[in-house]
Amino acid sequence: MSDKPLGLDNGLTNYGDFDFARFLRRSFARSMGISREGLDKPIVGIAMTPSGFNNCHRYMPDLVDAVSRGVLAAGALPRPFPTISLGEVFLNPTSMMYRNLMAMDTEEMIGAQPMDSVVLIGGCDKTVPAQLMGAASANLPSIQLVTGPMSTGRHRGQRLGACTDCRGFWARYRAGKIDSAEIAAVEGRLSVTAGTCAVMGTASTMACIAEALGMSLPGTATIPAVHADRLVAAEQSGKAAVGLIASKLTPRDVITRKSVENALRVLLAVGGSTNAVVHLAAIAGRLGIKVPFSRFNELSDETPVLVDLKPAGEGYMEDFHAAGGMGALLHELRPLLHLDTIDVGGRRLGDRLAEPIDWVDRAVIRSLDNPISKVGGLVALTGNLAPDGAIFKRAAATASLFESEGRAVVFTGLEDLSKRIDDPDLDVRPDDILVLQNAGPHAAGMPEAGYLPIPRKLAQAGVRDMVRISDARMSGTAFGSIVLHIAPEAAVGGPLGAVRNGDRIRLSIANKSIDLLVEEAEIKRRLAGHRPPPVPARGYKSLYRRTVLQAPDGCDFDFLTPCEPARHGRTPG
Ligand code: FES
Ligand code: MG
Repeated sequence: MSDKPLGLDNGLTNYGDFDFARFLRRSFARSMGISREGLDKPIVGIAMTPSGFNNCHRYMPDLVDAVSRGVLAAGALPRPFPTISLGEVFLNPTSMMYRNLMAMDTEEMIGAQPMDSVVLIGGCDKTVPAQLMGAASANLPSIQLVTGPMSTGRHRGQRLGACTDCRGFWARYRAGKIDSAEIAAVEGRLSVTAGTCAVMGTASTMACIAEALGMSLPGTATIPAVHADRLVAAEQSGKAAVGLIASKLTPRDVITRKSVENALRVLLAVGGSTNAVVHLAAIAGRLGIKVPFSRFNELSDETPVLVDLKPAGEGYMEDFHAAGGMGALLHELRPLLHLDTIDVGGRRLGDRLAEPIDWVDRAVIRSLDNPISKVGGLVALTGNLAPDGAIFKRAAATASLFESEGRAVVFTGLEDLSKRIDDPDLDVRPDDILVLQNAGPHAAGMPEAGYLPIPRKLAQAGVRDMVRISDARMSGTAFGSIVLHIAPEAAVGGPLGAVRNGDRIRLSIANKSIDLLVEEAEIKRRLAGHRPPPVPARGYKSLYRRTVLQAPDGCDFDFLTPCEPARHGRTPG
């Protein structure tokens, strides 16, 4: 980049005549009603993601206005631009399939359009990772703003928040404990404001991770979507984006091995979403940073769970914010953090944490010496069923199932699962292990199918949890004794595909292992006949299937990682 902000001259369109390109661009920009004075200012792009299919981003227009206000007040020209938006529950077969598409859209539009820095506004599960992946690769000065979490609703005196309570009530409905009139009433009371899911699901976890990485302004991760401070945070993010033009700090300066480890500590301490492990691997992977599962487990074994939120605990994001939010949590985690990382404002984490916090609600954010759990919320497993690893959310599982050996009840894919899981004749007992195959990235785009329902006949008999294993993901708002992200997945010949009904499987959280108790030679024999599923003939799904990586590499596309040095280095001025 040149020393002076280039504003509209950034990346001039190549007609073979740069003076003409400048003349034409300024003329066309004028048609948007921008004064001559405005045309000469540095430009802050605002990646906005409103969509009629994304409830979590409903307040996007207000946020864009507030960011623009901050940009203008700091003397630059705000230019909002759209990218695709991913509303979690409106995407088929799964939003995960489109995260990389959004990351590419974000990267390319940052690179292709004239801007000196960018504010990324996202919120729903896949949007923040997509924006951070894109920004990491584009490597223009960038700042992440999240839309913020929903506030809770009420049902018969009980607080409700999407979407842990969605699952709780649905399980009670499936078990015949509540009737159709009540589940209809609950449907209207779960998601009652704009914003992302109200618990420590994937969206909230990624918001906390963005702040822990240093990519969002301090204190902004947890502000509720409808709180006035959310707009103040937006205005300040706009102002900070102008500051970034001068400081020239890029995502590569902010996202480092150390800040990634800080983010992992936060993920573990909040009892955060399993999905965040995949997303953080993808973001870090863009910069050539890889945290092996052995290191992940070291961090997990020494990072206590401190925040008491659903799905692992009790509260909602609005409680976390009122209790002191990320500032209070980071203060508590201080002895475990790398303090020489910097945020987008250029401030060292150690300097941020040298400032005292005014108050913390210990009912929600525990102290290091009185944790909810002495070890982190997530653990990586390996074994002959998952040679490249798997993830288990011990914070949201049943401790009595941590050491289990059981008989496999196998479903060969999503269709098989939905056809047979509630069959009254299904041969299944509470101490069996439910196995779902062919739901990994190649097979199915890695949907959130890892939260296999408890077979109806067992649910009706009062069974609340069973060990379930798959190469799929599960929602960050879900809970249960569930082994996820098994790699390599069944569809690429992973040993998960060799499991047959009646095989014995052993799970040991103490040993961090998941094993199929079948002779290696027999496993090999069964896998010898493996044929990968056909690749779609055309379009994005074909690209996806040919290039998607496995979960430990973040399910990024192979051609997007590792990242080359910044290539949006701008134009002849
Ligand atoms: Fe958007 Fe849950 S559906 S965060
Ligand atoms: Mg989710």
